[in-house]
Amino acid sequence: MNNLNIQIRPVTPPDVPAISSLAREIWQATYPGIITQEQIDFMLEQRYGHERLYDDLEDADKWLDQAFQEQRRVGFAFSEIYKGEFKLDKLYIHPDVQRRGVGGQLIGHVAARAAKLGYPCVILQVNKRNAKAINSYMKYGFAVRTTTVDDIGGGFVMDDFVMEKKL
Ligand SMILES: CC(C)(COP(=O)(O)OP(=O)(O)OC[C@H]1O[C@@H](n2cnc3c(N)ncnc32)[C@H](O)[C@@H]1OP(=O)(O)O)[C@@H](O)C(=O)NCCC(=O)NCCS
Repeated sequence: MNNLNIQIRPVTPPDVPAISSLAREIWQATYPGIITQEQIDFMLEQRYGHERLYDDLEDADKWLDQAFQEQRRVGFAFSEIYKGEFKLDKLYIHPDVQRRGVGGQLIGHVAARAAKLGYPCVILQVNKRNAKAINSYMKYGFAVRTTTVDDIGGGFVMDDFVMEKKL
């Protein structure tokens, strides 16, 4: 299918409720079968609760970008400085428009920011069982650096690959 033309804009405070509900919609289409429903609910509250997103918007080391196709919000990418490295922290595209180049355009946008700031690579973490995302990251130049199991509270862990894309 043809790639979609999108506009990438910064998330602003009035966008927070819509980003939070878009995250829930995409997570429910992605993570059942990879992590439990309890973990999905826990992580959505931890990462996409409105107060958490308002705090992220005030953090000078975080960038929240959203993608629009015409007037429709179709995805988002959050990036941040994490332990001295540039990290793509979240990348979520609505199922209706997946595999049409939106993820690739957001990765390009984030990688350009990292390069402009002088970072040698972009890193990310992805669940080891999220094969579609891993394929897509490899397509855009990421390779596995290492693995990690992170305790995220609530009795849950993230069992992830750490991937990096050299710039
Ligand atoms: C992973 C994701 C961000 C990729 O964004 P996208 O806009 O769909 O990806 P693009 O169109 O830019 O790139 C497509 C590539 O992704 C991979 N991919 C995407 N969807 C796929 C699917 N359903 N099956 C297999 N591979 C898939 C393929 O490598 C594909 O390349 P190809 O079409 O040439 O085979 C997006 O599919 C998504 O949001 N998935 C659900 C949420 C998620 O897992 N996010 C990542 C969390 S770490």
